[in-house]
Amino acid sequence: MKRKPPPFLWGAATSSHQIEGGNEHNDWWAWEAEGHVEGGVRSGDATDHWNRFREDLQLAASLGLNSYRFSIEWSRLEPEEGLWNTVALDRYGEILSECERLGLLPMLTLHHFTSPRWFAEKGGFTQPGAAEKFAAYVSSVIEAFGLRIPLWCTINEPMVLVAGSYLGTFMPPGRWAPHLASQASHQLLRAHVLAYDLLHSQSRERKGPWKDWPLQVGIAHNMLDFLPDRRWHWAEKVLSRIFDRFYNRAWLDAVTGRKQHFGVVGMIPYADQVQEARGRKTADFIGINYYTKAYVQWRPLAPAHKASAQLPVGVSFAGRKDKVFSDLEWAIHPKGLTRMLAFAGGYGLPIYVTENGIADREDRLRPGFLRSHLKAVARALADGIDVRGYYYWSLLDNFEWGKGFGPRFGLYHVDYETLARKPTKSAEVYRNIIEAHRAQGDGSPRVEYFRS
Ligand code: FCB
Repeated sequence: MKRKPPPFLWGAATSSHQIEGGNEHNDWWAWEAEGHVEGGVRSGDATDHWNRFREDLQLAASLGLNSYRFSIEWSRLEPEEGLWNTVALDRYGEILSECERLGLLPMLTLHHFTSPRWFAEKGGFTQPGAAEKFAAYVSSVIEAFGLRIPLWCTINEPMVLVAGSYLGTFMPPGRWAPHLASQASHQLLRAHVLAYDLLHSQSRERKGPWKDWPLQVGIAHNMLDFLPDRRWHWAEKVLSRIFDRFYNRAWLDAVTGRKQHFGVVGMIPYADQVQEARGRKTADFIGINYYTKAYVQWRPLAPAHKASAQLPVGVSFAGRKDKVFSDLEWAIHPKGLTRMLAFAGGYGLPIYVTENGIADREDRLRPGFLRSHLKAVARALADGIDVRGYYYWSLLDNFEWGKGFGPRFGLYHVDYETLARKPTKSAEVYRNIIEAHRAQGDGSPRVEYFRS
């Protein structure tokens, strides 16, 4: 008998620090206190999801979603090294129970940009032994409720974490230190591999409604469609290829056992090889976080750009000819998603779009954004690319890191005075799209639907 294919996963994504509130034991909390966020804003209570999770999960379910991607906060679970907060562990257990009750298959992220303060103070992922410390945390999570979870992202956007922390200045500790970037890449890859092996070596039986779903572990990888700012400019052409290789490919090559090439000749020293990852696949899927394109600019005389102060290179998310942007001035570029899916498809692993969304305060562009990007997913599927799910970023407005609460990515609008949630028009649009597809086959996006 032929087995029914698993249903396409329609989801939304969030992360702990951006929605929970009160994450005072992590490095971002300290970074905010030092005034690094625009306008001196701090995450504070964020959206108070820690207390309102039932309401929020209900909102997710009412969109017709069958999956939800969220992260758990290491600093909450292990506020001091080796000290486990069992109350917080129980709360995550409750969140999970609520997902189970509502039929939201959980995709759990173990690290989404924030680290416990004690870990960060010792050098974060640049310290020797960082990966083992991360693995101890992962073991506790598996012990507490891990057997109920079918889908895992070990690390969210390791490339962004490394670039933001050690090549740019937009994440703590915000230092320009290429050698630390290499060390962090090395430890992050080890952390990922240790977590992958821990999750796959469980001899105990899996539990809960998804115990028969294949266990899949991967990373959520940010990808940008790199283009030369001036098409005729040879240096920009070469640079955009270098960026593509370093930013888009290095992590995918590493977790699929191809090559480890975390480095750029003359700019970033190559990271030491992680023996445990050599020549073996340590991902069961590829998670793509896709938002926009990136124009690479050669500007030897330009005033130092904050994110790359030491290099004569700039990156812009909007080109000279682009006319429509998000509130963050990111160009709307669904073609880039098509290209990234085609590229990722070449690795032969299932793909999830683990994040895709737009900052759009007025919710004017979001309906079109959703449709055009889902159409790109539908096309990829029609071309035989194995896309298994799509997670809109984000379920609700939240704390957008260094930009504070200004950018609004949510399907649900949050009033930060009252913390009331209100659906946007896009929530309705997304619900209708999902409903229409649900009626057929495995429910995956179909090109015909987006023709109309
Ligand atoms: C991604 C992050 C996510 C969110 C979106 C807008 O890079 O993973 O937390 O901030 O960007």
